[in-house]
Amino acid sequence: MCGIVGYIGHRPCIQIVFDGLKKMEYRGYDSAGIAVLDNGQIALSKESGKIDNLKPSIAKLPQGATVGIGHTRWATHGLPTRENAHPHEAEHLALIHNGIIENYKELKLELINQGIHFRSETDTEVIAHLVSLELKRTPKPIEALQKVIKRLEGAFSVAFIVDSIPDQIFVAKQGSPLVIGLGDKEVFFGSDITAFVNYTQKAIFLQDGDIAMVKADGITLWDKTGKEFTPKITHVQWSPGSADKQGFRHYMLKEIHEQPRVVSATTQALVKDNKLDPTALGLDKIDLKKIKSVHIVACGTAYYAGMLAKYFMEPLLGLSVNVELASEFRYRDPFFFPNGETLLMAISQSGETADTLACVKHAKDKGCQIFSICNVAYSSIHRESHGSLLMFAGPEIGVASTKAFTSQVLCAYLWTLGAAQQLGRVPTVELDAALQDLKTLPLYLDQALNAEESIIELASKLYQYPNFLFIGRGMSSVIALEGALKLKEISYIHAEGYAAGELKHGPIALVDKQIPIVAIAPHDRYYEKTLSNVEEICAREGQVYGIGDDKDQRLKEICVQVIPCPSVKNPVFQAILSTVGVQFLAYHIAVKRGTDVDQPRNLAKSVTVE
Ligand code: AGP
Repeated sequence: MCGIVGYIGHRPCIQIVFDGLKKMEYRGYDSAGIAVLDNGQIALSKESGKIDNLKPSIAKLPQGATVGIGHTRWATHGLPTRENAHPHEAEHLALIHNGIIENYKELKLELINQGIHFRSETDTEVIAHLVSLELKRTPKPIEALQKVIKRLEGAFSVAFIVDSIPDQIFVAKQGSPLVIGLGDKEVFFGSDITAFVNYTQKAIFLQDGDIAMVKADGITLWDKTGKEFTPKITHVQWSPGSADKQGFRHYMLKEIHEQPRVVSATTQALVKDNKLDPTALGLDKIDLKKIKSVHIVACGTAYYAGMLAKYFMEPLLGLSVNVELASEFRYRDPFFFPNGETLLMAISQSGETADTLACVKHAKDKGCQIFSICNVAYSSIHRESHGSLLMFAGPEIGVASTKAFTSQVLCAYLWTLGAAQQLGRVPTVELDAALQDLKTLPLYLDQALNAEESIIELASKLYQYPNFLFIGRGMSSVIALEGALKLKEISYIHAEGYAAGELKHGPIALVDKQIPIVAIAPHDRYYEKTLSNVEEICAREGQVYGIGDDKDQRLKEICVQVIPCPSVKNPVFQAILSTVGVQFLAYHIAVKRGTDVDQPRNLAKSVTVE
């Protein structure tokens, strides 16, 4: 998704804005640009492709400028060309925007009829011209901006500079995230805190409808009613450097290897003296006894974490749990019990996914209790929730979610155990056994990571196949879906995940020597049935690659190769361990294919538009 960055203060701004854009790269983009204001002149540099493509042209900008805005664009309206890149200019101003203006076509036509000439296909340029024209009628930029905003439908975070106002930047937030960072006689802003957190940890998280006039010595804010207000300043916890690659070739590889540490950090945060901490789990913010049904909503990998949660949440809580894609849930008019008797659980690494956020707002309006599992503090979903559990995964930069998935599953599991304990539904012996197994999970994850060398070798044999099939039963059927998604999104190979029991209902027609089939086959309650499915595939010359116990001779006999994965009793922890194999397989196949592993084509880390 697009990224917005801005600076006003006493330092030259170009490098600060450029570095802020680099920190935003993980959000996904296909063009970028910077505009600066110096001596009453706006100078601008923008290019399609990577941020580094800006280097030649930003060298020609006035290097002493101390007011600047920058943008990384993920194309929604118009191709990723230089003309469509932001910032967009109109008379006397330059403007950047994150979001989608849904009524831009009618506004554009109105402007064209007034003689405005457009240089781009974007909805953003419409905003720039509207503000520029309004400034002629309403000299106060904030009032002009308020009038324009009333005409916009959709989601937008905008920032603009005006050539005749050298000491101010104007920003507005509606739907897309925008955070302001307060420094010493300098102010930063960005789509998230990574844009400026190495300079200041004092942040103001704008709410929908907020408008700000940003000056070097401070900001003035107006809320959606137009009333000026004093903002809440948040001191964000962030260790500079935690979002760097630390010697790994890609962020994704680093984040796969971080999983043992993520599990340890999560355990330390949620388990005190061998007992689950209800407050740390956010259970004090939810009235569990009222709940009659649960909806889990999420997208992509987070949705798969929700699918896994259903397997343990239903038996532990004794409730029906519906898990649904947020993009479907938000439009189908779902049933909710009244008066907080339905819990909506939103799972989202970024906390900004538009479809998931829309479900949260809709369910909240319908009187549901809202609980979220997010990885970004103060994100929109986190702030909209009655209760929330942060994932202790640390920043996840690679677009393909790995450690966040593991963390989402673990947090959902511990939350469910804590809730079941409060409801008196889980025997102490079962709870103690789970917490005991949790202590050893990081060690087993280290063992699972040791399979990397054998997977690199396997990837070099398989990376040219055009199609893959992943299968499993029970929770392994969900890992099959996640494995297929990982492979698709970073290697661009077509891959499908299927419940192994479904093979006979169609997919077995796909089986021949040209489609590698990955079977997730741990020693669990489904083992025998999974092996029968593998044997059915082998009987049709299928090539099966197992993920299972490397001492499992039966599996080794019927598979071309077995990716070793430790065997544990706890099915949730087993699912987490099996995931490492599919993560490594996708990663190393993608590396062999030379794709942009951390920023795959067409993808964004946080899908903040529909
Ligand atoms: C997963 O690898 C993808 N990056 C994507 O499916 C992601 O899980 C999805 O967009 C949800 O993002 P969220 O967790 O930030 O809401």
